[in-house]
Amino acid sequence: MTALLKLEGYTLTYPRQTEPALIDISLELAAGEKLAVIGESGSGKSTLARAVACLNPRGTCESGTISWPSLGRSAQAGSDFGMVFQDPGSNLNPVLRIGEQVAEAAREHLDLSWKEAEAVALDLLKKVQIPQPEAALRAYPHQFSGGQRQRIAIAAAIAARPRLLIADEATSALDTLVQAEIVRLIETLVTTEKMTLMFITHDIALASQLADRIAVMHRGRLVEIGPAEEIVANPRDPYTRHLLDTHIDLDDAPRISGGAA
Ligand SMILES: Nc1ncnc2c1ncn2[C@@H]1O[C@H](COP(=O)(O)OP(=O)(O)OP(=O)(O)O)[C@@H](O)[C@H]1O
Ligand SMILES: [Mg+2]
Repeated sequence: MTALLKLEGYTLTYPRQTEPALIDISLELAAGEKLAVIGESGSGKSTLARAVACLNPRGTCESGTISWPSLGRSAQAGSDFGMVFQDPGSNLNPVLRIGEQVAEAAREHLDLSWKEAEAVALDLLKKVQIPQPEAALRAYPHQFSGGQRQRIAIAAAIAARPRLLIADEATSALDTLVQAEIVRLIETLVTTEKMTLMFITHDIALASQLADRIAVMHRGRLVEIGPAEEIVANPRDPYTRHLLDTHIDLDDAPRISGGAA
């Protein structure tokens, strides 16, 4: 099957950095596939996500390509891919009502009137399980908890029915329980809306639970990629083994869950 997304030998540098942030990255993503990208802080996960979304204004592509073979053209934000970031604050505009933000994404790409787009927004707020969705349309982001803001951000990201949803640590700022709920929501939406998923996390357990395949990044390189269960059961790269060992240590520690979302 023709890949939805394809990176070939992609290398990117930021100004004044001695090492490239992405080095010779090659990977393919099939339509409908769920790929998790894992790696420690600074390994290049967000840079990779932003490169796919053409959101790296400060980065320079030194070599390689990013293409969308099954589209046969370059990808459009909104209708081809939607993105959710880690910080709920950076996903939503604080001075715009929720309804406008979600409806705008639908209106712009699906060629709808405001009234039609508002109906789509309402439907999406229901899908992401925002309480009192009619009232939520007229509310502002600060009136919601962090977990609810992430749900709204997901609604806005999928409003134009993108083929690919890129979630960059979309659940990391949330406490464990809310994180699990949002992960389940993403899982459900990806299936019902027939989307492809690029899920970025530093949590290898979460990655293996959610993804078909796992890509492991280390210092800008893609050091390992394969089926999730294989990567976890039989990691080939020493760095992946290190990630797994560290995770087991962390998991043995007692868990303290944070405040309400
Ligand atoms: N806008 C930028 N300008 C310069 N350097 C940057 C920029 N963004 C990222 N970098 C550098 O690129 C490297 C990769 O950063 P990136 O944010 O992609 O890592 P990450 O894996 O997403 O980390 P984290 O888990 O902390 O989010 C790091 O060395 C970082 O300092
Ligand atoms: Mg990051």
